[in-house]
Amino acid sequence: MICRIISVKIFLLLNFFTSSFGLFNVSLSTIFNENKPLVGFALTTFEKILNPKAAPTSLNTAGFTSKLTKLLARVKHIPPQVYFTTHQHILQHGYPAEEHFVVTPDGYILTVNRIAGPRHSRGRSRSPDVVLLMTSVISSSSDFILDAPDSLGYVLADAGYDVWLGSNRGTREGRNHTRLNPDKDKRFWNFSLDEIARYDYPALASYITRHAGVERFFFVGFSAANRCLFMSASLPNSFMNKIRMVVSLAPMIGTENPSLFMKFFSKFIDDDIVQGVLEQFNGGQFYHGNDFMKSLLYIACSDRSKLRPICLYFTKFTGGVHKGYLGKDRLAFGLNSALSGASNKAIEHITQINLTPDLRMYSYGAGNMAVYGTETSPVYNLSLVSAPIALVVSPKDQVTHIRDLAYLRKSLPNVVATHVVQQRDYGHLDLIYADNARKSVYDNVLQLMRQY
Ligand SMILES: *[C@@H]1O[C@H](CO)[C@@H](O)[C@H](O)[C@H]1NC(C)=O
Ligand SMILES: *[C@@H]1O[C@H](CO)[C@@H](O)[C@H](O)[C@H]1NC(C)=O
Ligand SMILES: *[C@@H]1O[C@H](CO)[C@@H](O)[C@H](O)[C@H]1NC(C)=O
Repeated sequence: MICRIISVKIFLLLNFFTSSFGLFNVSLSTIFNENKPLVGFALTTFEKILNPKAAPTSLNTAGFTSKLTKLLARVKHIPPQVYFTTHQHILQHGYPAEEHFVVTPDGYILTVNRIAGPRHSRGRSRSPDVVLLMTSVISSSSDFILDAPDSLGYVLADAGYDVWLGSNRGTREGRNHTRLNPDKDKRFWNFSLDEIARYDYPALASYITRHAGVERFFFVGFSAANRCLFMSASLPNSFMNKIRMVVSLAPMIGTENPSLFMKFFSKFIDDDIVQGVLEQFNGGQFYHGNDFMKSLLYIACSDRSKLRPICLYFTKFTGGVHKGYLGKDRLAFGLNSALSGASNKAIEHITQINLTPDLRMYSYGAGNMAVYGTETSPVYNLSLVSAPIALVVSPKDQVTHIRDLAYLRKSLPNVVATHVVQQRDYGHLDLIYADNARKSVYDNVLQLMRQY
């Protein structure tokens, strides 16, 4: 019995880590893609071993991973909310929700969610105060709406804002395309932050101003979203003049003082051999937070899991998480939202930027000469980031270190406010996932926005 539990947990743990690099998804789907009778038999047997008393399930959905997902959800009692879309979460929490689709000039179809009014309202009286929320490039728009009424999306909606949750290509909300199939076409995954800044952000900005009927809007960005926004200022279709004000949560440019972890991780990823191996294994897709991966993460990191301390340690090490996070499976939901999907190239681009002070275009190494006509990739011009910016930083952030604050203030031309979170143990992810972020962060964000 104990042996069985240990081996199942080890199996899950192993998958959790290999999946971070997209290996597991792809190998599984290539090996077991078909509805093979043997696979069905193995699954039924597996279920009987795990849960001898349960009646047999009819596993008739195609595909191995979706079968395994259903099985896991059943035997491990995973709540249905784990698989909810952003739209479903908003509706469930009693807010008026709309779902929109924005098509970029290069064919990506991005799902955009709107919270069109306060809780229990009908969302018909449109507010002139429009805000676009963007999260990190690997994360889901659900980052801002997991915990009603205390998540930033709801706080803003209840305060009278017309709230739009944007998404970028490669996340769960950005896996559709007019021509390409993310599961089959490698070309779908040929993008870095440059394309997100060049195509996704301006498309979102113009869609939202058109549909909300406003000239200008607020922009709230978390983590790498700030990089994309700052990059977009240098591009021909810059929308800086449409922005009333930017709230930069955990702002980033490059970094003058990368942490030891960042150095190690970035050097590892930005290695040609590692990139080659990754590309072979995952076809350009770094991570896919599909229902199966969500199940594994939930099982490993839910409040009742024995592996929770490992999840907490891992998160603390990479993102910084304060002591809270108990109740409501907050850590599991947070991580499932944080890890949504991205391309190898985008992650590699992030690691490149993490090692230099500048915000540069994706570097092709020796290939730069052919692509850009220079030996190093071009630098984005930060003096074009003309919108007023409020910087909101955590004291214990391991990703965007507070040491870089002076550098940020010096590099960005129009910083109008700086807010360092009072709570001393606050880290990177706490700005959007912590149980007390409303008091520590969002009340202040509201106050800043009211002045513009
Ligand atoms: C992808 O977008 C097209 C066009 O908007 C839509 O018809 C289709 O249902 C979408 N596919 C998915 C899986 O969302
Ligand atoms: C990827 O995109 C870049 C520029 O956007 C292009 O130069 C390159 O040929 C593309 N690579 C592949 C394999 O399609
Ligand atoms: C950056 O933009 C500013 C404002 O347009 C311009 O004066 C400056 O020359 C630019 N810097 C570079 C390096 O292109």
